[in-house]
Amino acid sequence: MSTNLSGKHIVLGITGGIAAYKSVYLLRLLIKSGAEVQVVMTPNAKEFITPVTLSSLSGKPVISEFFTANTGEWHSHVDLGLWADAMVIAPATASTIGKMANGVADNMLVTTYLSAKAPVFVTPAMDLDMMAHPSTSRNLELLRSYGNHIIDSESGELASHLVGKGRMAEPQSIVDTLDSFFASSHDLAGKRVLVTAGPTREAIDPVRFIGNYSTGKMGYAIANECRRRGAEVTLVSGPVEAVKAVDGVKVIGVESAREMLDACLKVFDNTDIAVMTAAVADYRPAEVASRKIKREENGIDNIALVKNPDIAATLGKMKSDGQYVVGFALETDHEAENAMAKLKRKNLDAIVLNSLAEKGTGFGTDTNRVDFIANDGTVTRFDIKPKIEVARDVVDMIKSMLSR
Ligand code: CTP
Repeated sequence: MSTNLSGKHIVLGITGGIAAYKSVYLLRLLIKSGAEVQVVMTPNAKEFITPVTLSSLSGKPVISEFFTANTGEWHSHVDLGLWADAMVIAPATASTIGKMANGVADNMLVTTYLSAKAPVFVTPAMDLDMMAHPSTSRNLELLRSYGNHIIDSESGELASHLVGKGRMAEPQSIVDTLDSFFASSHDLAGKRVLVTAGPTREAIDPVRFIGNYSTGKMGYAIANECRRRGAEVTLVSGPVEAVKAVDGVKVIGVESAREMLDACLKVFDNTDIAVMTAAVADYRPAEVASRKIKREENGIDNIALVKNPDIAATLGKMKSDGQYVVGFALETDHEAENAMAKLKRKNLDAIVLNSLAEKGTGFGTDTNRVDFIANDGTVTRFDIKPKIEVARDVVDMIKSMLSR
C-alpha cells in the first residue's frame, strides 16, 4: 500500500503498560503502510509483550538493552536517533514520560529519544488518577514545550475497570496522525515566509523602555512549523527569552518597531507569505534621553510619545499579487468586528483573532484559541489548544487559502 509512511524509518518505543498489547497492532499497521520499523522496548515492556512477536512482525531484532548479552555488541542510540524519520512512543507510561521530560537516560528507549533528531510522538497511556496527577500534566507540558507531539489519550474503560481518561489512542488513529504529519512535511517547499514575533522595546533612556508582555511563543511556533514544512523562513524577532527557532530558520533580532520594519522591508520583496504576530509598541518616546533620566529632575513625569510605523499595514499596502499577508489581532470587545476592520484597514489577506476572553489564552500562556478570518469574511473557529498546534492550524489555513 502506498502511503505517506512508505519507506519512512520509524523507531517504535514501547514501555511497560497494559496498552503495550495494542503496540502489536500499531506495528502491523505501520509495516502495512510501508514503513520500516525498529522496535525499542524498555525492560519492563517485556513483562507485557514478548520481543519475539515484535521482531517477527518488524523483521528486525528488538532492541532493549545497551549491549547484546552474549556477543557484547553495543547498540548505538545515536545511530538509531539519526536513522529515524520519526519516533513514536506507544504506550508511554507516566514513568517514561517523567524520564523523557527530565533527561533520565537509564534505558535504551530514553537515550534514543534524547539522541533523536526526528520528530517524536508521545502516546500516553495510564490509569485515570495517574493521568490527572499534576506531575504527569507538568511532564507532558514540558515534552510539548520541547517540540514533541503528544497524541492525547482517550476516555473509556481502563485496565483497572475504572472509567476515565488514560486509554492509549487507537493504533489506526496514531497511524493517521503520522500519515498526515508526513503528508504536510514538504507542502511549503519553495515558499519564502516572513514572520514577526515577540514584543518591541522603545527606549526612553539608556536603562528604560516601553514594552509589553509578549513572549514570542506564537510567532516562533509559526516560524518553526513553516520550516518543518519545507519553507525558507526569516523570523524577525523582538527581545524574547524562553523560545527557540528550529535549525534552518533565519532569525533577525531587533529591538524597536522601526528596526523591525527595516528588517521586514529588506526581505519583503522576496517573500511569498508574511505572518505578523509581533506585539509592536504603537508609540515610542519622541526623544531618547542620552543619559539616565533622574527622579529629582522630574524628567519621567511627562514623556512625549509619537506613533510608531504600522508594519503590517505597510507590508499590506506594498504587497503585490501572489503575496499573502496575515495579521494577528488581540481584541477585548466586539472581537470579530474589530478584527475585520483591522484586516481591511491594513489591507491584509487574513487575520487571526486571539480571544482574551477565555482562560489559557493570550500573552505568556502555552495555549491559545483563535479564529481565522479570511478577507472574504469567512471565519474558521478553532478550539483552545497548545500554541504549537494552533500554529499548525494557522499554517494549514494559509496553505488552503493559497491553493484556492
Ligand atoms: N502591527 C504591526 N505594527 C504595528 C502595530 C501592529 O505590524 N505598529 C501588527 C501586529 O503584528 C498584528 C496586527 O498588526 O499582526 C494587529 O495588531 P494590534 O496590536 O491588534 O493592532 P493595532 O493596529 O495596534 O490596533 P489596536 O492596538 O488599536 O487594537
